Amino acid sequence: MKRCDHTAAWAALQGHFEAHGRDLDLREAFAQDAGRFAALSFDAPEVFADLSKNLLDTATLHFLVELARECALEEQRDAMLRGDVANATEGRAVLHTALRAPRGSGPFSDEVHGVLDAMLAYAEAVRGDAGISDIVNIGIGGSDLGPQMVVAALQAYGRVDKRLHFVSNVDGHDIAPLLQQLDAKATLFIVASKTFTTQETMANAAVARAWFLAQGGTDIARHFAATTTNVAAAAAFGIDTTFGFWDWVGGRYSLWSAIGLPIAIAVGGEHFRALLAGAHAMDRHFAAAPLEKNLPVLLGLVDIWYRNFHGFTSRSVAPYHQGLRRLPAYLQQLEMESNGKRVDLDGRALPYGTSPVVWGEPGTNGQHAYFQMLHQGTDVIPVEFIAVKTPAHGLVDQHHKLLANCLAQSQALMLGKTAAEAAAEPAPTAAAGIDAAVLARHRSFPGNRPSTTLLLQALTPRTLGALIALYEHRVFTSGALWGINSFDQWGVELGKSLCNQLLPRLASGETQGLDASTAGLLARLRA
Ligand code: F6P
Repeated sequence: MKRCDHTAAWAALQGHFEAHGRDLDLREAFAQDAGRFAALSFDAPEVFADLSKNLLDTATLHFLVELARECALEEQRDAMLRGDVANATEGRAVLHTALRAPRGSGPFSDEVHGVLDAMLAYAEAVRGDAGISDIVNIGIGGSDLGPQMVVAALQAYGRVDKRLHFVSNVDGHDIAPLLQQLDAKATLFIVASKTFTTQETMANAAVARAWFLAQGGTDIARHFAATTTNVAAAAAFGIDTTFGFWDWVGGRYSLWSAIGLPIAIAVGGEHFRALLAGAHAMDRHFAAAPLEKNLPVLLGLVDIWYRNFHGFTSRSVAPYHQGLRRLPAYLQQLEMESNGKRVDLDGRALPYGTSPVVWGEPGTNGQHAYFQMLHQGTDVIPVEFIAVKTPAHGLVDQHHKLLANCLAQSQALMLGKTAAEAAAEPAPTAAAGIDAAVLARHRSFPGNRPSTTLLLQALTPRTLGALIALYEHRVFTSGALWGINSFDQWGVELGKSLCNQLLPRLASGETQGLDASTAGLLARLRA
């Protein structure tokens, strides 16, 4: 496969960038083209996307789609969907899409639906068990972020008599205060780990089991369950209620598998199936829609445009829905663990940038924290707004304020305010002593700062499923064009093994062979 920067389309994009892209002025682009919004907004299942406030035009999208074709995106997509080994460095297929395919369709359907049925039946039993009030998911990374994000997002579908908790950090400050609030007789622990070897999860699971026994608990079978591919290790830990999954489900793509058990307990089997159905609808769109109208593909291509042509290194996500407060953290793992790579599939160092930094907070909170920098800082950071038309509450006035804020921010980023416009406004009285021209420069905004807005009708299991799958396939798209393996994560290994080497030194104080900084810090921590 050709490297993306060796294609004719890349050269065409470079020329297009020099001629029209670098200096594209959004105010002007809207003034000159009354059809810009219609031409650059797209409908996908459950998600509407306005790309018109981005630094691009239809020609840019045309060249980007050409790039996708030259980089064999469709062939790579089809290979992943049919179960070829898309994760070569681990010798695995990548089939999270099979987890949401309807019964009887998709690879491994019998296995997938067998576990799904059993897991949902168990979830219903827990939901119906008046003796269980608290469910604690112990997991980290993909075994935590996805379920935690979805449970928060679908709070309106949850039951008030069941409290869901998520423990992830090996820091005892995570689990210790939680245990103080719990009643062992009324608690179910779910140990969630694809490998069942992860240090943090194993440590927290051991603490939970010891606490449970110390509280006089005896019935581990009733109070502990596991979700893992390593059923033998779960059994060795003493858990026999286990829901399995498969090595072709990547950790950060696993919320659709048994790892979704806390979601199913929170919202019930019917809503869990709706979540899967929403994701499946997006899978079908990704698999079949022409690239020119394929929303995950277009978003992934715009990511390449910004990262490799404009040189932007970061993207901010601003969900204007409090339920989506964990979405940025979830996306950090999804995108940065997938595409934070520096060599191609053949191990050759890449000359171009890959994953941007993805970060954010829900609106409107972010507006009162870092939006200052987005509007007037020296870096251009594309922002992704997510707005939801219908809220799950009846506070209409507050919802209008929320939506107006969301629209105002993307407008302000785009329009900016010239120094002349600022000077024409009445100056704040407190600044009366400052030269008017100087003050106007402080109060001006460069504008022309790009953003995308995604709209959902409401935040439901189905729309959320579609939104998450949209992000998964977008990450696939940019990773496939960059020619990297989006499905391994070797970058987390070195820290893990150094940690294992340092751990005994914390007890022994032995610093021999360590670099002077690590030795000095270790000595201080032990003093
Ligand atoms: O941090 C690396 C990682 O392997 C993630 O990819 C994964 O989601 C997380 O650790 C947890 O792994 P496991 O589910 O095996 O405990």
